[in-house]
Amino acid sequence: MLRTLTAGESHGSALTAIVEGIPAGVTLDRAFIDRELERRQGGYGRGKRQKLETDRIFIDSGTFKGVSTGAPITLRLINNDAKLERLSEPAAPRGGHVDLAGSISYQTGIRQVLERASARETAVRVAAGALARLVLREVGITVFGYVAELGGIAAPPLSRDVAVRDASPVYTLNPEADAAIVAAIDAAREAGDTLGGVVETIVTGCPIGLGSHVQPDRRLDARLACAVMGVQAIKGVEIGLGFEAARRPGSKVMDPIRYEPEHDADDRRYGFRRPSNNAGGIEGGTSNGEPIVVRAAKKPISTLASRGPSINMATKAESPATYERSDVCAVPAASVIVENVVGFEIAAALLERFDGSSLDSLRATMAAVHALNREKLDHWAERP
Ligand SMILES: Cc1cc2nc3c(=O)[nH]c(=O)nc-3n(C[C@H](O)[C@H](O)[C@H](O)COP(=O)(O)O)c2cc1C
Repeated sequence: MLRTLTAGESHGSALTAIVEGIPAGVTLDRAFIDRELERRQGGYGRGKRQKLETDRIFIDSGTFKGVSTGAPITLRLINNDAKLERLSEPAAPRGGHVDLAGSISYQTGIRQVLERASARETAVRVAAGALARLVLREVGITVFGYVAELGGIAAPPLSRDVAVRDASPVYTLNPEADAAIVAAIDAAREAGDTLGGVVETIVTGCPIGLGSHVQPDRRLDARLACAVMGVQAIKGVEIGLGFEAARRPGSKVMDPIRYEPEHDADDRRYGFRRPSNNAGGIEGGTSNGEPIVVRAAKKPISTLASRGPSINMATKAESPATYERSDVCAVPAASVIVENVVGFEIAAALLERFDGSSLDSLRATMAAVHALNREKLDHWAERP
């Protein structure tokens, strides 16, 4: 079982995650985790905070000579901008934030709730996801995220080239759209406004059988939606065609099934091929071997330089919302967060399906189930 909890405030001393369930024997590639952290901090439209922080991961437990032991792994990120106790109490809550509801609910000031609600927390969640992806990498599963739309400007992918995404200032796969997107971010900054967008994550190499149809909370699509919705400012999640499926007739949604024996030999899909992937790699809550495609809508940042209307909590008089230092656009960062959150959930489903006490065990049980599936497929008529 793979699970994690995070702790830490935006301007506290550090962010921490304890990750339990990483198999023994995984080389803890800190450079990979740091690279994901660096990508999360990047992208055009971020604010000054990202220049103050240089996120580097510390691994405080669960490792021996750079290799996981199977024990809980503690991940820690130090906040350079630690000044929690010196920060003032916002006078007027910001709409679109936890400020009002959270401070009433917890009977505290606004500062206490906003510090924990802040998306700074996603830094350590990215680290946990990147750690889980080290397991996926060992068994040939890849996770890839990019920006599909920003500020209403579509950036349909022109390739799946990581180098193209990494060269894009806004993490798209469409260099032709980048200039217009950058200009839109500049215009929003100029107007004291902010922009949202759509990010997409694609997982390839998943074996058939992650998740299950037998209980709603075991459905892989439900689990992915829950994990992605758990990211700050994500307001919608789609798997495969998503909302578009509701607009089409069934014949334009259902993915045909083909059998191509030439692919049968050493294939995680046993030769079964789908010419389309409208289901986004999940049918009946179960991975079907096709790429898993998850899209998420990120709302624009609610803290506006132009300061939206609000109420002074002490006097109840109308007042502009308090301004907290903020990004203009964090959609590129959201693509990295969603990618790593999806990676974590896929790894969790994988380690439930197969024995994850050690990497060797994981590989062995994956191979054994694969061989058994092969054999059962060859004797289909004998099934009960
Ligand atoms: C990467 C990232 C960066 C964010 N940066 C900011 C920011 O600078 N200012 C802000 O007001 N909201 C920011 N947000 C959004 C808030 O964290 C989020 O809207 C808020 O916590 C309320 O949660 P909700 O939108 O899910 O209801 C960011 C979100 C993400 C994913």
